[in-house]
Amino acid sequence: MPRSKVTVVGAGNVGATAAQRMFDKGYADIVLVDIVEGLPQGKALDMLESGPVVGSDASVVGTNDYADTAGSDVVVITSGIARRPGMSRDDLLLTNMNIITSVTQSVVEHSPDAILVIVTNPLDAMAQRAFQVSGFPKNRVVGMAGILDTARFRTFLAEELNVSVNSVEAYVLGGHGDTMVPVTASTTVGGQPISEVLSQDRIESIVKRTQDGGAEIVNLLKTGSAYYAPSAAIVQMVEAILFDRQEILPCTAYLEGEYGIDGLYVGVPIRLGAGGVEDVIRFNLTDTEQAELQNSAEAVRELVEVMAQYS
Ligand code: LAC
Repeated sequence: MPRSKVTVVGAGNVGATAAQRMFDKGYADIVLVDIVEGLPQGKALDMLESGPVVGSDASVVGTNDYADTAGSDVVVITSGIARRPGMSRDDLLLTNMNIITSVTQSVVEHSPDAILVIVTNPLDAMAQRAFQVSGFPKNRVVGMAGILDTARFRTFLAEELNVSVNSVEAYVLGGHGDTMVPVTASTTVGGQPISEVLSQDRIESIVKRTQDGGAEIVNLLKTGSAYYAPSAAIVQMVEAILFDRQEILPCTAYLEGEYGIDGLYVGVPIRLGAGGVEDVIRFNLTDTEQAELQNSAEAVRELVEVMAQYS
Protein backbone atom coordinates (compact mmCIF):
# COMPACT_ATOMS: atom_id res chain seq x y z
CA MET A 1 0.00 0.00 0.00
CA PRO A 2 1.42 3.43 -0.83
CA ARG A 3 2.08 5.69 2.10
CA SER A 4 -0.37 8.47 2.77
CA LYS A 5 0.66 11.96 1.77
CA VAL A 6 0.38 14.75 4.31
CA THR A 7 1.17 18.36 3.49
CA VAL A 8 1.98 20.82 6.24
CA VAL A 9 1.69 24.45 5.18
CA GLY A 10 3.87 26.74 7.27
CA ALA A 11 7.39 25.71 8.26
CA GLY A 12 7.39 27.67 11.52
CA ASN A 13 7.56 26.00 14.89
CA VAL A 14 4.08 24.48 14.85
CA GLY A 15 4.27 23.21 11.27
CA ALA A 16 7.82 21.92 11.44
CA THR A 17 7.27 20.18 14.77
CA ALA A 18 4.08 18.52 13.48
CA ALA A 19 5.99 17.40 10.38
CA GLN A 20 8.77 16.01 12.54
CA ARG A 21 6.40 14.08 14.79
CA MET A 22 4.80 12.45 11.73
CA PHE A 23 8.08 11.82 9.93
CA ASP A 24 9.47 10.10 13.02
CA LYS A 25 6.54 7.67 12.98
CA GLY A 26 7.10 6.97 9.29
CA TYR A 27 3.49 6.34 8.22
CA ALA A 28 3.18 9.24 5.79
CA ASP A 29 5.24 11.04 3.21
CA ILE A 30 5.41 14.65 4.26
CA VAL A 31 5.54 17.85 2.22
CA LEU A 32 6.46 20.99 4.12
CA VAL A 33 5.54 24.23 2.31
CA ASP A 34 6.36 27.81 3.15
CA ILE A 35 6.74 31.07 1.24
CA VAL A 36 10.17 31.72 2.74
CA GLU A 37 12.77 30.38 0.34
CA GLY A 38 15.10 27.80 1.82
CA LEU A 39 13.27 27.45 5.14
CA PRO A 40 11.06 24.43 4.32
CA GLN A 41 13.84 22.92 2.20
CA GLY A 42 16.37 23.24 5.00
CA LYS A 43 14.08 21.90 7.72
CA ALA A 44 12.86 19.02 5.54
CA LEU A 45 16.38 17.99 4.52
CA ASP A 46 17.54 18.12 8.13
CA MET A 47 14.54 15.95 9.12
CA LEU A 48 15.18 13.52 6.27
CA GLU A 49 18.76 13.10 7.42
CA SER A 50 17.46 12.03 10.84
CA GLY A 51 15.71 9.07 9.17
CA PRO A 52 18.58 6.58 9.47
CA VAL A 53 18.86 7.35 13.17
CA VAL A 54 15.18 7.33 14.11
CA GLY A 55 14.40 4.48 11.74
CA SER A 56 12.04 6.33 9.43
CA ASP A 57 12.19 5.69 5.70
CA ALA A 58 9.32 8.04 4.89
CA SER A 59 10.07 10.96 2.61
CA VAL A 60 9.92 14.58 3.64
CA VAL A 61 10.20 17.33 1.05
CA GLY A 62 10.48 21.06 1.65
CA THR A 63 9.19 23.37 -1.03
CA ASN A 64 7.84 26.80 -1.98
CA ASP A 65 5.78 25.30 -4.80
CA TYR A 66 2.26 23.99 -4.23
CA ALA A 67 2.63 21.67 -7.22
CA ASP A 68 4.67 19.44 -4.90
CA THR A 69 1.66 19.09 -2.58
CA ALA A 70 -0.53 17.56 -5.30
CA GLY A 71 -2.74 14.67 -4.27
CA SER A 72 -2.34 15.09 -0.52
CA ASP A 73 -4.70 13.08 1.68
CA VAL A 74 -4.53 15.57 4.52
CA VAL A 75 -3.32 19.18 4.47
CA VAL A 76 -2.51 20.88 7.75
CA ILE A 77 -2.53 24.68 7.52
CA THR A 78 -0.44 26.44 10.15
CA SER A 79 0.71 29.50 8.23
CA GLY A 80 0.19 32.97 9.59
CA ILE A 81 1.63 35.34 12.12
CA ALA A 82 1.77 34.15 15.73
CA ARG A 83 0.94 36.00 18.90
CA ARG A 84 3.40 38.08 20.86
CA PRO A 85 3.02 39.18 24.46
CA GLY A 86 0.02 41.48 24.88
CA MET A 87 -1.70 40.29 21.71
CA SER A 88 -4.89 38.30 21.68
CA ARG A 89 -5.53 35.64 19.08
CA ASP A 90 -8.13 38.01 17.60
CA ASP A 91 -5.46 40.63 16.88
CA LEU A 92 -4.22 38.32 14.15
CA LEU A 93 -7.55 38.26 12.32
CA LEU A 94 -7.11 40.29 9.14
CA THR A 95 -3.48 39.43 8.43
CA ASN A 96 -4.11 35.74 8.85
CA MET A 97 -7.40 35.89 6.96
CA ASN A 98 -5.51 37.00 3.86
CA ILE A 99 -2.88 34.32 4.34
CA ILE A 100 -5.49 31.58 4.85
CA THR A 101 -7.39 32.71 1.77
CA SER A 102 -4.45 32.42 -0.59
CA VAL A 103 -3.05 29.27 1.01
CA THR A 104 -6.43 27.52 0.84
CA GLN A 105 -6.83 28.43 -2.83
CA SER A 106 -3.42 26.98 -3.66
CA VAL A 107 -4.02 23.87 -1.58
CA VAL A 108 -7.40 22.96 -3.09
CA GLU A 109 -6.16 23.54 -6.62
CA HIS A 110 -3.68 20.70 -6.18
CA SER A 111 -5.46 18.47 -3.64
CA PRO A 112 -9.18 18.66 -4.41
CA ASP A 113 -9.95 15.56 -2.33
CA ALA A 114 -7.91 16.39 0.77
CA ILE A 115 -9.13 16.89 4.31
CA LEU A 116 -8.01 20.27 5.64
CA VAL A 117 -6.90 20.64 9.25
CA ILE A 118 -6.79 24.33 10.15
CA VAL A 119 -4.46 25.48 12.90
CA THR A 120 -3.87 29.19 12.22
CA ASN A 121 -5.32 31.64 14.77
CA PRO A 122 -7.86 32.93 15.45
CA LEU A 123 -8.62 29.29 14.96
CA ASP A 124 -12.38 29.05 14.59
CA ALA A 125 -12.62 32.08 12.29
CA MET A 126 -9.78 30.76 10.12
CA ALA A 127 -11.52 27.38 9.83
CA GLN A 128 -14.65 29.20 8.71
CA ARG A 129 -12.60 31.13 6.16
CA ALA A 130 -10.92 28.01 4.79
CA PHE A 131 -14.32 26.29 4.55
CA GLN A 132 -15.74 29.19 2.53
CA VAL A 133 -12.72 29.59 0.25
CA SER A 134 -12.22 25.87 -0.37
CA GLY A 135 -15.79 25.11 -1.40
CA PHE A 136 -15.21 21.74 0.30
CA PRO A 137 -18.05 19.97 2.12
CA LYS A 138 -18.07 20.72 5.85
CA ASN A 139 -16.79 17.27 6.81
CA ARG A 140 -13.49 17.93 4.98
CA VAL A 141 -12.57 21.15 6.81
CA VAL A 142 -11.86 20.81 10.52
CA GLY A 143 -10.02 22.96 13.02
CA MET A 144 -7.59 21.97 15.77
CA ALA A 145 -7.62 23.48 19.25
CA GLY A 146 -10.09 21.63 21.46
CA ILE A 147 -7.54 18.84 21.84
CA LEU A 148 -4.88 21.38 22.80
CA ASP A 149 -7.10 23.21 25.28
CA THR A 150 -8.28 19.91 26.73
CA ALA A 151 -4.69 18.68 27.03
CA ARG A 152 -3.83 21.77 29.05
CA PHE A 153 -6.87 21.29 31.29
CA ARG A 154 -6.00 17.62 31.87
CA THR A 155 -2.35 18.48 32.56
CA PHE A 156 -3.26 21.05 35.22
CA LEU A 157 -5.83 18.77 36.83
CA ALA A 158 -3.44 15.82 36.90
CA GLU A 159 -0.73 18.00 38.44
CA GLU A 160 -3.12 19.30 41.09
CA LEU A 161 -4.36 15.82 42.01
CA ASN A 162 -1.01 14.07 41.65
CA VAL A 163 -2.41 11.49 39.22
CA SER A 164 -1.44 10.47 35.71
CA VAL A 165 -2.82 12.66 32.93
CA ASN A 166 -4.22 9.40 31.54
CA SER A 167 -6.59 9.18 34.51
CA VAL A 168 -8.22 12.53 33.76
CA GLU A 169 -11.04 12.63 31.24
CA ALA A 170 -12.18 16.05 30.10
CA TYR A 171 -13.44 18.09 27.19
CA VAL A 172 -12.93 21.76 26.46
CA LEU A 173 -15.47 23.10 23.98
CA GLY A 174 -16.26 26.46 22.37
CA GLY A 175 -14.01 28.82 20.49
CA HIS A 176 -10.24 28.69 20.95
CA GLY A 177 -10.13 31.94 22.92
CA ASP A 178 -10.84 33.48 26.28
CA THR A 179 -14.41 32.22 26.17
CA MET A 180 -13.55 28.53 25.75
CA VAL A 181 -15.68 26.20 27.88
CA PRO A 182 -14.02 23.49 29.97
CA VAL A 183 -16.98 21.19 30.56
CA THR A 184 -16.35 20.67 34.25
CA ALA A 185 -19.62 18.86 35.01
CA SER A 186 -18.50 15.85 32.97
CA THR A 187 -14.80 16.01 33.81
CA THR A 188 -13.74 12.95 35.75
CA VAL A 189 -10.66 11.65 37.52
CA GLY A 190 -10.55 7.88 37.64
CA GLY A 191 -14.26 7.96 36.87
CA GLN A 192 -15.09 10.35 39.75
CA PRO A 193 -16.51 13.80 38.96
CA ILE A 194 -13.89 16.48 39.73
CA SER A 195 -16.42 18.32 41.87
CA GLU A 196 -16.03 15.43 44.35
CA VAL A 197 -12.26 15.63 44.57
CA LEU A 198 -11.54 19.35 44.19
CA SER A 199 -12.99 22.49 45.72
CA GLN A 200 -14.96 24.85 43.49
CA ASP A 201 -12.23 27.47 43.99
CA ARG A 202 -9.50 25.17 42.75
CA ILE A 203 -11.60 24.08 39.78
CA GLU A 204 -12.24 27.71 38.85
CA SER A 205 -8.60 28.60 39.07
CA ILE A 206 -7.63 25.63 36.84
CA VAL A 207 -10.34 26.59 34.34
CA LYS A 208 -8.92 30.12 34.23
CA ARG A 209 -5.38 28.85 33.76
CA THR A 210 -6.63 26.67 30.89
CA GLN A 211 -8.38 29.61 29.24
CA ASP A 212 -5.14 31.60 29.52
CA GLY A 213 -2.97 28.62 28.59
CA GLY A 214 -1.83 30.00 25.23
CA ALA A 215 -0.96 33.40 26.72
CA GLU A 216 0.98 31.74 29.55
CA ILE A 217 3.32 30.20 26.99
CA VAL A 218 3.52 33.37 24.87
CA ASN A 219 4.51 35.36 27.95
CA LEU A 220 7.28 32.88 28.74
CA LEU A 221 8.61 32.56 25.20
CA LYS A 222 8.18 36.27 24.37
CA THR A 223 8.92 35.79 20.68
CA GLY A 224 6.23 33.33 19.68
CA SER A 225 3.56 30.95 20.82
CA ALA A 226 3.27 27.32 21.87
CA TYR A 227 4.18 24.49 19.53
CA TYR A 228 4.90 21.21 21.30
CA ALA A 229 1.36 20.68 22.55
CA PRO A 230 -0.26 22.20 19.44
CA SER A 231 1.75 19.93 17.13
CA ALA A 232 0.89 16.87 19.24
CA ALA A 233 -2.79 17.78 18.90
CA ILE A 234 -2.43 18.11 15.13
CA VAL A 235 -0.86 14.69 14.86
CA GLN A 236 -3.67 13.07 16.87
CA MET A 237 -6.14 14.53 14.37
CA VAL A 238 -4.13 13.48 11.30
CA GLU A 239 -3.84 9.93 12.64
CA ALA A 240 -7.57 9.75 13.42
CA ILE A 241 -8.17 10.60 9.75
CA LEU A 242 -5.46 8.46 8.13
CA PHE A 243 -6.22 5.40 10.25
CA ASP A 244 -10.00 5.94 10.24
CA ARG A 245 -10.04 5.87 14.03
CA GLN A 246 -13.58 7.25 14.48
CA GLU A 247 -12.14 8.93 17.54
CA ILE A 248 -14.28 11.30 19.60
CA LEU A 249 -12.22 14.44 19.96
CA PRO A 250 -12.95 18.09 20.68
CA CYS A 251 -12.30 19.93 17.41
CA THR A 252 -13.64 22.94 15.58
CA ALA A 253 -16.41 21.88 13.22
CA TYR A 254 -19.10 23.55 11.16
CA LEU A 255 -22.39 23.53 13.03
CA GLU A 256 -25.79 23.64 11.43
CA GLY A 257 -28.11 23.77 14.40
CA GLU A 258 -26.23 21.42 16.73
CA TYR A 259 -25.97 22.91 20.22
CA GLY A 260 -28.30 25.66 18.98
CA ILE A 261 -25.50 27.13 16.81
CA ASP A 262 -26.00 27.60 13.10
CA GLY A 263 -23.63 28.37 10.24
CA LEU A 264 -20.50 28.65 12.35
CA TYR A 265 -17.25 26.85 13.20
CA VAL A 266 -17.00 26.23 16.95
CA GLY A 267 -15.24 23.63 19.10
CA VAL A 268 -17.45 20.63 19.83
CA PRO A 269 -16.91 16.90 20.31
CA ILE A 270 -16.78 15.23 16.92
CA ARG A 271 -16.14 11.74 15.60
CA LEU A 272 -13.04 12.00 13.43
CA GLY A 273 -12.29 9.35 10.81
CA ALA A 274 -11.37 8.77 7.19
CA GLY A 275 -14.20 11.02 6.02
CA GLY A 276 -13.03 13.84 8.28
CA VAL A 277 -15.81 15.07 10.57
CA GLU A 278 -18.04 12.00 10.54
CA ASP A 279 -20.43 13.29 13.16
CA VAL A 280 -20.97 15.99 15.77
CA ILE A 281 -21.47 14.34 19.14
CA ARG A 282 -24.22 15.67 21.38
CA PHE A 283 -23.11 16.07 24.99
CA ASN A 284 -25.57 16.76 27.77
CA LEU A 285 -24.45 20.18 28.92
CA THR A 286 -25.69 21.91 32.03
CA ASP A 287 -27.65 25.10 31.41
CA THR A 288 -24.62 27.13 32.44
CA GLU A 289 -22.32 25.25 30.07
CA GLN A 290 -24.81 25.62 27.22
CA ALA A 291 -24.99 29.37 27.89
CA GLU A 292 -21.18 29.58 27.98
CA LEU A 293 -20.97 27.71 24.68
CA GLN A 294 -23.43 30.16 23.11
CA ASN A 295 -21.38 33.05 24.46
CA SER A 296 -18.22 31.54 22.99
CA ALA A 297 -19.95 31.02 19.64
CA GLU A 298 -20.99 34.69 19.65
CA ALA A 299 -17.33 35.69 20.07
CA VAL A 300 -16.48 33.62 16.99
CA ARG A 301 -19.42 35.07 15.07
CA GLU A 302 -18.15 38.60 15.74
CA LEU A 303 -14.84 37.74 14.09
CA VAL A 304 -16.58 36.12 11.14
CA GLU A 305 -18.63 39.30 10.71
CA VAL A 306 -15.51 41.47 10.77
CA MET A 307 -13.95 39.25 8.10
CA ALA A 308 -17.06 39.63 5.93
CA GLN A 309 -16.56 43.41 5.94
CA TYR A 310 -13.05 43.05 4.59
CA SER A 311 -13.60 40.44 1.92
C1 LAC B 1 -2.09 28.50 21.94
C2 LAC B 1 -2.06 29.34 20.73
C3 LAC B 1 -1.15 28.81 19.73
O1 LAC B 1 -3.17 28.25 22.47
O2 LAC B 1 -3.34 29.56 20.24
O3 LAC B 1 -1.02 28.09 22.38
